[in-house]
Amino acid sequence: MSQIIYEDLHLVPKYAKAHGIVMSLAFTVMMPLGVFAIRFLRVKGTIWIHVVWQLLSWILMLAGLATGIRVGKILDRLHNNAHTILGTIVVVLLLFQPFIGLIHHFRFRKTQKPGKWTRLHVWYGRVLILLGIINGGLGLELAANTTGGEIAYGVVGGIFGAGLLLVAILVETKKLPFWKERNAGDIG
Ligand code: HEM
Ligand code: HEM
Repeated sequence: MSQIIYEDLHLVPKYAKAHGIVMSLAFTVMMPLGVFAIRFLRVKGTIWIHVVWQLLSWILMLAGLATGIRVGKILDRLHNNAHTILGTIVVVLLLFQPFIGLIHHFRFRKTQKPGKWTRLHVWYGRVLILLGIINGGLGLELAANTTGGEIAYGVVGGIFGAGLLLVAILVETKKLPFWKERNAGDIG
């Protein structure tokens, strides 16, 4: 039985737009930029630029979650479709990411080299950000957004998503150094 909240339906356009913009900004633009920052910036304190930037995108993600849940409740679309299910899994798993980063950080200060927690932070982040970008496309479909909107998202998501993959390949094939190796003296 459908549980649509008819008296709140007028709120949907505003909340859905806010949700779409905030989530797209967080996953499709800001998180990839936070990754590029840690791999390409060559200034002292790069790690803190990464941390502050990613925490900002993380907070945006929480705002997107709140508006997404609100719209989902009104339209009775919470957890009966791919977008909200995958989105919830991605967001919940990313809640742990700053703490995994922090554990990496304290281990790194002791051992002065990347370890298991580093690998976890890096791969966990890559996979979840990519899934988030893909999930935005599912959201546009769910909301029956315009073809223009879908194309615009596809272009931006495609560029940043491909950038993320390229960075991963370059790091894994050692064509891009791990952060510590080129910022000797800074803490990781
Ligand atoms: C929600 C917050 C965060 C997200 C989404 C995030 C995401 C990521 C991702 C995806 C990478 C991999 C970059 C690549 O593909 O090569 C990365 C690297 C890294 N992150 Fe984060 N991060 C976050 C918070 C933090 C925090 C709080 C710390 C430390 C206190 C941290 C420390 C690092 C370090 C040191 C690396 C580079 C590791 C290496 O040498 O390979 N991150 N982060
Ligand atoms: C991975 C993170 C997510 C991203 C990148 C994302 C992005 C988007 C985008 C771009 C739209 C289209 C908005 C529009 O065209 O008006 C959308 C729609 C929607 N999102 Fe998300 N979303 C995410 C997670 C979630 C979560 C966790 C929920 C709820 C639990 C949710 C609930 C919804 C709902 C219900 C709609 C449809 C709105 C409508 O039919 O008008 N999303 N999302």
